[in-house]
Amino acid sequence: MEFTGKKLYSAVQPTNNLTIGNYLGAIKQWVGLQEEYDCTFAIANMHAITVRQEPANLRKKTLELLALYIACGVDPEKCTLYLQSHVPCHAELAWVLNTFTYVGEMERMTQFKDKSAKHADNINMGLMDYPVLMAADILLYQADVVPVGLDQRQHLEITRDIAIRFNNIYSPTFTVPEGLYMKVGAKIADLSDPSKKMSKSAENPNGSIFLTDDRDTVLRKFKRAVTDSGNEVRFDPENKPGVSNLLSIYSVFSDKSIAEAEADFAGKGYGDFKLAVGEAVADKLAPIQAEQARLLSDKAYLDNVLASGAEKAYRTAKKTLAKVYKKIGFYQL
Ligand code: TRP
Repeated sequence: MEFTGKKLYSAVQPTNNLTIGNYLGAIKQWVGLQEEYDCTFAIANMHAITVRQEPANLRKKTLELLALYIACGVDPEKCTLYLQSHVPCHAELAWVLNTFTYVGEMERMTQFKDKSAKHADNINMGLMDYPVLMAADILLYQADVVPVGLDQRQHLEITRDIAIRFNNIYSPTFTVPEGLYMKVGAKIADLSDPSKKMSKSAENPNGSIFLTDDRDTVLRKFKRAVTDSGNEVRFDPENKPGVSNLLSIYSVFSDKSIAEAEADFAGKGYGDFKLAVGEAVADKLAPIQAEQARLLSDKAYLDNVLASGAEKAYRTAKKTLAKVYKKIGFYQL
């Protein structure tokens, strides 16, 4: 992969535990993208507070996520890795962009509607404004590409609309970003119900493999995984959704093609198969978990990463914000 010099931006909220689906669909891909793009990755703690958080837990999760990124191979020397709340420009640009966004547009957002139903006792302004803050994140860094899951597509579309709207009213100010929709991992299904996507907030925790699960837990969850009638390990998502999901997981975690994965289990029963899938996953997670634990015990290093990340991010962000302030007529000293 050749370095393109193009700017890439993405972020993840430091809430909930990440699943192997998040790992395959986001973090693992970022590691490869670092070689191709000028990458900025944020921990979106300002987005996280749109639903109520326990302060000590939010702080803890922030460092855990940072350590996880680095343990997975996101390199703070190669990219800008920072915490959203450390760069005040996000809130500042979001305020301006609010005046270029219509209430009706925000009310129509699918995620807003879903989260309003889920948190009916706390439909706060931040929840509704979430996509505008996300637009501010992306536009501050003049990102060309934004890798996200398909669930964020609508937010990326509104980011583009806001950027185009602003550019048309004034003059070209923001790069209009392209979504890079991650396919791998987006397809990993719940182990106890293969018709559902593996989710970090599923009702049944046995259906999801979290990156923090220890070996025994991983093996136990795979042992319980739903298979299909028959006894043949064959990739056939239509008729054998459970087995096919396990084959997909095995194939990515053991770096084999689906055909090679099928061949590994020719003539073997579901029991052996599920054990092998569990082992492949546990083997890959163990070194990541060990490295994450090592990093978490070195708080000075993590603080250092955050401090230099914030400084780098701020240098870029403040330039965009200054341009915007000038264009809209904020008197400058
Ligand atoms: N909303 C994104 C999510 O939940 C996280 C996010 C916040 C983000 N700001 C962003 C993703 C900017 C991409 C770009 O997945």
